[in-house]
Amino acid sequence: MMAGFDIQPLGSQHDRAAFSCGETSLDDFLKTKARKEHELNLSVPFVASPKDAPTVVAGYYTLSSLSIEMIGIPAELRKNFPKYPLVPATLLGRLARSTDFSAVRLGEWLLLDALHRAHLATETVGSYAVVVDPLNDAAAAFYARYGFLRFGEGPRQYLPMATIENLGLG
Ligand SMILES: CC(C)(COP(=O)(O)OP(=O)(O)OC[C@H]1O[C@@H](n2cnc3c(N)ncnc32)[C@H](O)[C@@H]1OP(=O)(O)O)[C@@H](O)C(=O)NCCC(=O)NCCS
Repeated sequence: MMAGFDIQPLGSQHDRAAFSCGETSLDDFLKTKARKEHELNLSVPFVASPKDAPTVVAGYYTLSSLSIEMIGIPAELRKNFPKYPLVPATLLGRLARSTDFSAVRLGEWLLLDALHRAHLATETVGSYAVVVDPLNDAAAAFYARYGFLRFGEGPRQYLPMATIENLGLG
């Protein structure tokens, strides 16, 4: 989708120490927790690197599974659903791009790649929606720009897999 960058699962070749996105918790997660979470199969971190600098972390995101409460989905969207209290979903747990790559629409590319992978995974494991827990209002506005909806009363947002399918990401 984006010339000049590759996205791969986080590996030992990636220079995690140099990563800075302006949000300390997301920098620290990559440096101290991402590999461990991956080893434990709690989440899969994906890293974007320039094709000509494959050790550089230009941005990253993580995907994992979670259950969401059906009650957070508006009644008109769930009227044909079985009466389950919980439904399966995919958590886009973290998403960040380096301040060194702020002018190339990398945030959008990371998000669309995450949505594409989440959608592909539904060929083998069911998932109603992609879910995000934005860290702040700016992040929430970024996700809303791509159609993410409020989930219940809190900051959580979701994008139904049916909507992602219609994006035609390939
Ligand atoms: C949020 C983040 C990933 C956005 O990445 P980015 O590379 O700046 O985004 P892009 O340049 O691809 O922008 C894509 C679109 O989103 C919009 N956008 C980007 N940041 C936005 C923000 N904070 N608020 C509203 N819209 C935003 C852009 O204006 C653009 O819209 P356009 O098509 O109308 O021009 C990036 O700012 C970041 O890593 N921030 C720090 C970490 C963070 O807060 N992550 C979210 C964790 S929940």
